[in-house]
Order: sequence, then C-alpha cells, then structure tokens
Amino acid sequence: MDAAEIRRDFPLLSEGGDREPPIYFDNACQTLRPRCVIDAVSEYYESTPACAGRSSHRLATEVSLKCDDVRAEAASFFGAADPAEIAFLKNATEGLNTVIFGSGLAKGDEVVTTDYEHNSVHVPLLRAAEVYGIRRRIVRSSSDGTFDLEAFEEALSDSTRLVAMCLTSNVTGYTLPAREIVEMAHSRGAQVLFDAAQTAPSMHIDVGSLDVDYLVVSAHKMLGPSGLGIMYAKNESSHRLAPLIYGGHGVTGATLDSFELLPPPERFEAGLQNYSGIIGTGAAIRYLDRIGLDAVAEHEVALNRRMTRALRGIDGIRILSPADPNLRGGILSFNIKEMVPHDVAMILDNSRNIMVRSGMHCCHSLFESRRIDGAVRASMYIYNTAGEVDEFIQAMEDISQKF
Ligand code: ALA
Repeated sequence: MDAAEIRRDFPLLSEGGDREPPIYFDNACQTLRPRCVIDAVSEYYESTPACAGRSSHRLATEVSLKCDDVRAEAASFFGAADPAEIAFLKNATEGLNTVIFGSGLAKGDEVVTTDYEHNSVHVPLLRAAEVYGIRRRIVRSSSDGTFDLEAFEEALSDSTRLVAMCLTSNVTGYTLPAREIVEMAHSRGAQVLFDAAQTAPSMHIDVGSLDVDYLVVSAHKMLGPSGLGIMYAKNESSHRLAPLIYGGHGVTGATLDSFELLPPPERFEAGLQNYSGIIGTGAAIRYLDRIGLDAVAEHEVALNRRMTRALRGIDGIRILSPADPNLRGGILSFNIKEMVPHDVAMILDNSRNIMVRSGMHCCHSLFESRRIDGAVRASMYIYNTAGEVDEFIQAMEDISQKF
C-alpha cells in the first residue's frame, strides 16, 4: 500500500490548495473521504435526486437499483449470505438501539457487556434496564487492558439473552476475541451483538463464518459519508426483531386500525432514506476493497509501532493499555504529565496543524473504570505517513520539555 499515492485521492490532503494539509490523526472519529466518495454523493444530487422504492419513474428506479447494488456489495464485504440481512440506518447507534430495544428483552433477562463500552452500547443498555428491568453483567478488562475470557464465561448464565459489546475499542484500539465470545455465548443460548464501527475500517469481518447474530458499523469511520450506518441482522433473528422507527415504506400496508410490517431489511428503513449516503458508502466499500483490508491493517500497525516506540521514551507520557501496539490497530491514546487532554490537543492543532481527539471519546465508563480523566487520542489511517508520525513525536517532545 502506497500512502503517498493514496493521499492524492483525498482533496483535503492535496498540496497547493487554500488550506495547508493537516496531519489528520482523528480517524477514529471519522476518516477523510476520497474523491470517489465525494463524487458519488454529488452525482446523486446532480443526476438522480429521487426517492428509492416508491415512485415508479426512471430516476427513482435508477436510485433503487443503485441502493440494491450497494446492499449486495455491503453483504459481500461483510460476508453476509443474503443482502436482505443488511439494513441501512442513520448510524451504528441506531442499529445498536434497534437490537437492544427490538429483540424482546424482558424483566430478569441478562445482558453481558464490558466496562469499556462506547455510550452507544452503554446508554441504551442502561435505558433498557430502566424500561424492561433487564440485568447487566459487566465483564471487567484484565489489568493489561485485554479481554478477560474467564470473567466472561463466569458472567454468562442461563438468563443471558444477549451479549452486547464493542468489538474494537474507539479509545484503546483493542479488538475482542470475537470468535471465542460468539461460541461461548451461543453455547449458553445467548445472541451476540457487536458494535464493529471501529473494526470495519481496517479488519476483515466475515459475519457468516463468525456466526454473530447482529453487527453494526458506521460509514463515516470507513471513508463513507456521515449519517449512514449498516446493520447486519442474521435472517433467523431479523424476522423477530422489531424496528425502532415506524412509518412510510416500512410496511406492506395499513388500515385505520392496523399495519403489517415489510420483511427485513425494509422494515428497518421507514421514512425517506439517505440515498446519497448509501451510494457514497458503495464507493467507499469499493475503494477499501481495492486497497485490501490486510494492507490497511498492516499500514496502521506499522505507524502505531513507530509512534508507540518513540512516545515510550518521552518524559511523562502514559499510554492507555494494552501496551503492545500490535493489539491497538491505528489507535494510541495517552496522557502527558498532569496536562488536560484538551489543552494538548489545542496546542498540537495551533502550533503544528496536527488534529487529534481529546476527552472521553463518548466512552465515560472506560475512563471511570480506569480512574482517568480523559486522554489524548491519535488515530491513524491509510493516508498517514511515517513522516507525519515523526512530526507528531517531535511535537510531543516539545510539549514534554515545555510543560
Ligand atoms: N466514536 C467516535 C470517536 O471515537 C465519535 O471519536
């Protein structure tokens, strides 16, 4: 994979424009978008700004066919046997809420989760505990920041209905042992829901061979447009899953007193959809497919190894575990001395044009369980280079010396 060549596809990184290209290390928040994705989104508005699945004129038919194609491409990208197992939603959060509130959880049911969930898993589970009286069983991370399979096994019980977990942490970059988790959960009769928003950009996911029941991703973390999420729901489960949103297009019909839902995936797609987002997501998937996810992962980890090695030698830097960069993909979160993470991020931005994220990263429970007040997060992706990592290291050395 040639990052220098890839950079040419990203307008924000092109030299000679109005804006000096930033060192963009906020990819875990959202990635930049390549020209092909921007063009696909614009082309929808320029050429086919119509509604799929309703009107019968040519523009609408064209949009419907394009959306069907993207559904099939997404199914193949994620290893789903049937495109009907893929629903387009607003984001990963909507998918997580759909499963947590739609899979029939009831009083006394147990849901097993972790102590480092993004609020998109954590908060709906807290709400489900209030509304339905479910019990949450929380698996604490091991002291080295990895997943504790023994603790997980102990948390499973005959009352476990669902295991709901973030497959890759957006804060530490650590990825769970997915296969073991699914096998152990299924052996106790529980279903598994993975938030794979942070996994999908750089790791191959095969929902078929993994045998996971539900999996959600967000396009904005994998080169696609904002406002578009994908939910995979296995056929045998999706027909029993109640939608979160009801309205037009989600039903076969309605009388004054009743309605009948369409089969999946349309039942999950009520209301006018984000057609440009779906079409742009297709372009993102094709772009990533061309590069190859193995190459993406290798590139990210190589940069992370370089950054980790250097940061370990800088006075006052504490890296959020796991310590081993090979377990953290393209993510490195850290604190330096007693500095407030937002101050570090602002100094990097103002003095060096380096963009990182700071704070709790929508993951308050992780910080609470580790008793830390936030962190600075550098997250790298396909267009980042070793030279950018070296500039970042230099900036951190300067900060360490000055403060
Ligand atoms: N989940 C996103 C992040 O990690 C917003 O920054």
